[in-house]
Amino acid sequence: MGEIRARRADAADVRTLRRFRCDQGGWFARDVQRLVRGKVASAVDSIDPVHVVLFERGREVVAVAAFEIREADPVICDLHVVAIANEHQGSRVNTPTGRHPLVRVVLDTALDLARELGATRAEAIVARSNARSVRMLLREGFVRVRSFDRDYDEYIARLA
Ligand SMILES: CC(C)(COP(=O)(O)OP(=O)(O)OC[C@H]1O[C@@H](n2cnc3c(N)ncnc32)[C@H](O)[C@@H]1OP(=O)(O)O)[C@@H](O)C(=O)NCCC(=O)NCCS
Repeated sequence: MGEIRARRADAADVRTLRRFRCDQGGWFARDVQRLVRGKVASAVDSIDPVHVVLFERGREVVAVAAFEIREADPVICDLHVVAIANEHQGSRVNTPTGRHPLVRVVLDTALDLARELGATRAEAIVARSNARSVRMLLREGFVRVRSFDRDYDEYIARLA
């Protein structure tokens, strides 16, 4: 499979984001899809401070990441979304450093950008039953810090 290219989303991507599909796997995946099609799509064409990164293979958008540098505390990155398109979930991709899970490339790229913007800590709120997402975060060095509400837990990672 071809290499992955990451770039910042812009106004021309709104239509693509409004059609993005990552809804398989449970209610939490449908929630994430709603978030991508709604808030994330709107953010790229507004003064919203959310950073939206698209991952393309050829002309196809295979994944989306969205994060925000917290205004009141700019060392903190709120990781809002990591979403892989349905048909690309579980896939691996070629990179200059070898073949890696797409999910790892997406998360590493988003966290690298956050680091470049000055963040030293990343925070994420994840549905407790979203096993794939929890695994992704744990493998990337996040630790669970507390329960957020009935369905979600809060995770934190140091961005050294
Ligand atoms: C959660 C989600 C991003 C995970 O991506 P995925 O491609 O489905 O990832 P998988 O769980 O299939 O993992 C693929 C492989 O990468 C590995 N992996 C997962 N995270 C990793 C990481 N951070 N670093 C290295 N490897 C990782 C897995 O162990 C797995 O390896 P295996 O095939 O040897 O078992 C994706 O399923 C998704 O977008 N779901 C819908 C939206 C969602 O829930 N988003 C998360 C909340 S914002």
